[in-house]
Amino acid sequence: MAQCQARKHDAKAELNRRSQVCETLAGTGVRVAKMEIIVVVGFLKKRNNPAMTIPAELVQRLATAKSVTVLTGAGVSAESGVPTFRDAQTGLWEKYSPEELATPRAFRRNPRLVWEWYDWRRKLVAGAKPNPAHFALVEMEGLFLRFHLITQNVDGLHQRAGSRHVIELHGNITRTKCSEEGTIVSSWKDTGDVPPKCPACGGLLRPDVVWFEEPMPEEEMQEAMTASTHCDFFFSIGTSTVVYPAAALPSEAWRSGATVVEINPQPTPLTPQAHFALAGAAGVVLPELVRAIRASRRF
Ligand code: OAD
Repeated sequence: MAQCQARKHDAKAELNRRSQVCETLAGTGVRVAKMEIIVVVGFLKKRNNPAMTIPAELVQRLATAKSVTVLTGAGVSAESGVPTFRDAQTGLWEKYSPEELATPRAFRRNPRLVWEWYDWRRKLVAGAKPNPAHFALVEMEGLFLRFHLITQNVDGLHQRAGSRHVIELHGNITRTKCSEEGTIVSSWKDTGDVPPKCPACGGLLRPDVVWFEEPMPEEEMQEAMTASTHCDFFFSIGTSTVVYPAAALPSEAWRSGATVVEINPQPTPLTPQAHFALAGAAGVVLPELVRAIRASRRF
């Protein structure tokens, strides 16, 4: 009981704090929004994963939905063998610290280490294949009049599965850019330098991803905000919802009147706020959800 009350209290504080983040976003424009992590202690605990059945009420309500927006995170690629960031034991940040590898300061301090870490991940991603969760999202795109897919993932697996328009909030690990000029560089001379140098200006090359403390891509963030505040349904799938400003999008959708659905085997700060929280693996729940929606439309 005490634990239950504590969680409710945390949830209220978190909602207030999120409102402030959203107001900051709305007041100052997304241009100044930088990526930050906010971990709410107490939410990231294990929960039981009973066999998943899709609630009939959810299927019924989805039958008349015109506009659906989905936000995905690392959990969607977990079943493709790409490690998440914060899962205990297997999470990347269990082994490496974001400050050492995913900030501009880290790159300035040790560009070789950062390049090699991303190179390792790039190879891992190249060998990975989209899983049933990615394919179910491709199918969902065809089931609704308007469908927006926003992702924090940098692995490009949504596109490789066949999703046509993906809003990438944190960039894409398969692209490389010049750290001085910001221009995308697709080929360079192999001189043995690590990281390699920009053929145009000689600056160090880096992955085209958004690091902590860096500004979010303006256009993508604006598009994601609009998609989140103009939808009937908002799905938050496989994300711990602790990295802002992406983590503010479900709350924005909620405040705009959307039905918010979470798919995640673990509880997150969003769970108490979600209208439906489906506690299961995305690769299991999403195909079931698509089947249920299709079945409901046959009658
Ligand atoms: P996290 O690692 O923080 O969270 C992954 C989430 O996926 C967790 O809540 C897991 O419970 C859940 N999960 C694990 N397996 C799953 C499965 N099979 N199906 C569904 N959910 C599953 O990853 P993100 O929320 O994506 O930024 O992290 C956001 C950002 O923080 C990333 O873009 C990255 C990271 O630091 C940078 O690298 C700069």
